[in-house]
Amino acid sequence: MSTGRPVALVTGASRGIGEAVAVRLAAAGHDLTISARGADALASLASRLRDEYGSQVAVCVTDMSAEDDVRRLAATHREAHGRLDVLVLNAGMGAIGRFADYPVRRFDKMFAINVRSAYVLGQELLPLLREAGAATERGGKIIAVASMTGLAGEPLNSAYGATKAALISWCAAVTTEESLGGVVATAVCPGYVATAMTEGLADSVPLDTMIPVDDVAEAVASLTRLSRRTVVPTFVLARPGRHTWRA
Ligand SMILES: NC(=O)c1ccc[n+]([C@@H]2O[C@H](COP(=O)([O-])OP(=O)(O)OC[C@H]3O[C@@H](n4cnc5c(N)ncnc54)[C@H](OP(=O)(O)O)[C@@H]3O)[C@@H](O)[C@H]2O)c1
Repeated sequence: MSTGRPVALVTGASRGIGEAVAVRLAAAGHDLTISARGADALASLASRLRDEYGSQVAVCVTDMSAEDDVRRLAATHREAHGRLDVLVLNAGMGAIGRFADYPVRRFDKMFAINVRSAYVLGQELLPLLREAGAATERGGKIIAVASMTGLAGEPLNSAYGATKAALISWCAAVTTEESLGGVVATAVCPGYVATAMTEGLADSVPLDTMIPVDDVAEAVASLTRLSRRTVVPTFVLARPGRHTWRA
């Protein structure tokens, strides 16, 4: 149960942006629940967060495409901490392809992981976020890792970009309903970030021109430090040069 420290739940924490966010929030004094499918990576991250930062860490191996798993994640979090200040909806699947022949099954799977799981988990945990919204100066935060491709459509991203546009819209709508009660949702929208997800793009987008993972983690951490009286609907992170509104 709660140690009195702020508590965050980070999905997709087994690597990449989610792992960096979990480390950053632990360093800032949060207790955590971390989830993904990769049990070994989660176990090793949990040990690191306990050893280096003294965080209380609950681990929940979760497949975000399965609704039962998502609800079990919410229950695990409630049981472990009984409190939620920051919900980081980061788990995501990326799969590019031409619209003309994009497999609809892949579209459905991506919507289940990138959007539906966020909707279900957000609904499950809203009561705890409202408690933080009423009781703390920073309130309850929902931070969804969306994408630049959710703001401006790009070739090969008709499905992925649509999932991210849905997240952006969902964050804005939730904020209109909940922010007077202290719960604010933000969609973080980076261009290309150097992670496993973008490894396949190395020929067309050199790694050293991509946004560093730590910058995304810092953006997320900075949002958690704002008071509940400030609303940030979208937080855009662009690459230098002519890419401003392109991934
Ligand atoms: N890299 C970019 O250029 C970029 C740009 C903008 C936005 N984003 C977004 O940032 C988020 C993190 O991506 P990343 O770049 O850090 O990629 P990544 O290294 O591939 O990490 C993806 C994370 O999501 C988890 N995940 C994937 N499918 C899952 C499932 N079915 N159930 C549970 N967890 C699942 C993965 O864990 P397991 O495999 O262990 O389950 C992993 O922890 C995603 O939402 C992505 O769309 C990325």
